[in-house]
Amino acid sequence: LVTVFCIQGCATGGKEPVRSTGMLWFGLQPCQYKRWQKDLRSPVTNFSLTMAVHTILKMGDLRLFRAVRPVTEFGTDALRQLVADMHDTMRAAMGAGLAAPQIGVDRQVVVFGSDVPNPRYPDRPLVPATVLINPVITPVGDEEALDWEGCLSVPGLRGRVPRWSHIRYTGYDMQGNAIERDVDGFHARVVQHECDHLAGILYPMRMRDFTQFGFTEVLFPEMDPGLDD
Ligand code: NI
Repeated sequence: LVTVFCIQGCATGGKEPVRSTGMLWFGLQPCQYKRWQKDLRSPVTNFSLTMAVHTILKMGDLRLFRAVRPVTEFGTDALRQLVADMHDTMRAAMGAGLAAPQIGVDRQVVVFGSDVPNPRYPDRPLVPATVLINPVITPVGDEEALDWEGCLSVPGLRGRVPRWSHIRYTGYDMQGNAIERDVDGFHARVVQHECDHLAGILYPMRMRDFTQFGFTEVLFPEMDPGLDD
């Protein structure tokens, strides 16, 4: 058992973390463990770790429907902390990606991908773990693809969403280095979904056929509800 200090209610704008304890129920990534080791709070309880799993805002919260501001300063402690908190929150929820507005932060930052398969999307190709800041997406060609999406801010539901099949995206990493990629398929879909959050758009707002929008337990009864978002 590992004791975890979680910051609760941080998405409501409170700056003072409220500590509570819980059990670590998902596996430690080596990089997380290394970071948490540096954050050990007590010489006595050597297995106490610090992390920040934020409350994920749900559809209906107006903070999900605003266009958020670009990042203007790179390589700062505040940006590193935001990205670390987003990673902790995304992993705890087993998400494929997370955007800053989903934890109530008004900045153009998204994280997505993983270097190990996502249990929610075990058959999907791996998307490299990426921090993408101030992104710009340009479609390549006009081909669209329809596929199922879920969203941590729209729990319990799935919808079949049209997206550009092939895109080029640009942006910056945490240090301000330029990122430019030409991608298609699932990678292109994940990037479009996450970057939509920065413009205040949730995936149901992209849908055209609402007969293909429904509860995961109805659409995919064989899916483990524990893996539902
Ligand atoms: Ni989402």
